[in-house]
Amino acid sequence: MKIVIAKERRASESRVAASPDVVRKLTAFGFDVAIEKDAGVGADVTDADFKAAGATIVADAQALLKSADVVLKIQRPDAEEIALLKKGTVIIAHLSALSEAKDMDALAKAGLTAFAMELMPRISRAQSMDVLSSQSNLAGYKAVLDAANEYGSAFPMMMTAAGTVAPAKVFIMGVGVAGLQAIATAKRLGAVVTATDVRPATREQVESLGGKFLTVDAEMEKDAETDGGYAKQMPPEYFEKQKQVVAEHIKKQDIVITTALIPGRKAPILVPKEMVASMRSGSVIVDLAVEAGGNVEGAKLGKIAVSKNGVKIVGHENVASRLARDASQLFAKNLLNFLTPHVDQENKTIEFDWEDETVSGTCVVRDGKVVHPMLSKGK
Ligand code: NAI
Repeated sequence: MKIVIAKERRASESRVAASPDVVRKLTAFGFDVAIEKDAGVGADVTDADFKAAGATIVADAQALLKSADVVLKIQRPDAEEIALLKKGTVIIAHLSALSEAKDMDALAKAGLTAFAMELMPRISRAQSMDVLSSQSNLAGYKAVLDAANEYGSAFPMMMTAAGTVAPAKVFIMGVGVAGLQAIATAKRLGAVVTATDVRPATREQVESLGGKFLTVDAEMEKDAETDGGYAKQMPPEYFEKQKQVVAEHIKKQDIVITTALIPGRKAPILVPKEMVASMRSGSVIVDLAVEAGGNVEGAKLGKIAVSKNGVKIVGHENVASRLARDASQLFAKNLLNFLTPHVDQENKTIEFDWEDETVSGTCVVRDGKVVHPMLSKGK
């Protein structure tokens, strides 16, 4: 069985869906692992590193994809890649399946089987397979560094002979995986950190990292979490209350990092333009939800926007890819952990256990049919 890793083709993508470590494990299972030449360059992994781990390096990308039984990717394949894959090929990637349903139809039309890693069920057994989690963690860290980079003052308090520099006040909105890492990183840099989330379970997590929790409405937040651990869409009254509480708080902040997402929906606006206008010139907002429409009014995808009153709104795209080496290594490990229970070592193949919820929960297209319940309605 041939496992192929092609170079990512989408703009702003530096990651690669393999690491030398993971290649070593896959070849030990008895698979042929073929990697496109220079696939790891953006993540500082050389062809020689991959070769030493047991992979074959292939310069002809078209021939490589044509020969694949399984393709490991970071992002969903484009039309050109799909056209090269033979019927029955298995694709495993972050497919953006819910927002790119048409592309899922194209995968089905080509007779492929595709797993969308972003749909991994949030059960404890699947934590090691969760690409959203591994990538968000790095994005949360990088968001703080990006903020520090744009901020014209220091983060820690500094007492010097020439006077005292006050610590930066950092406010994190949305305390999931990215938010928690942002809190930890900002604390390490010496900032005074506050945070808020609709899910009340996060209060304790914020406090355990040394941050202070900003409560919006304790009563409404009792019912803010789905069984799967995600945030629910909150009622309009909640957003009104959130606006008032946050408006008072945000004007005293130097740095705001927003990470709030609702799966399958546009991100909620948490920082409208009036709040941006209330902040001091030189303050920095990093909107990690910018790809899902943004939490901040005025955020621009891939840009650093500056408001009239001099607040910088950072909207970097694909933040995990800005730490491509670590992000690739963790992503690749997530894919390996997903595949490992289904490896038939004797026959050197992969036999998916379709009863396993990590398989049924992520399979979007099976043998040319869109099968995921969140997508297949009416087909
Ligand atoms: P996410 O990326 O979907 O959302 C980020 C954060 O934004 C969440 O904490 C959410 O509650 C918050 N949010 C949404 N709307 C908001 C609003 N209007 N105002 C303020 N905050 C808002 O979430 P993420 O980071 O993927 O994690 C969600 C939970 O799932 C966490 O508790 C995490 O520990 C858990 N998790 C469990 C896994 C497993 O068991 N396999 C794997 C990964 C995460």
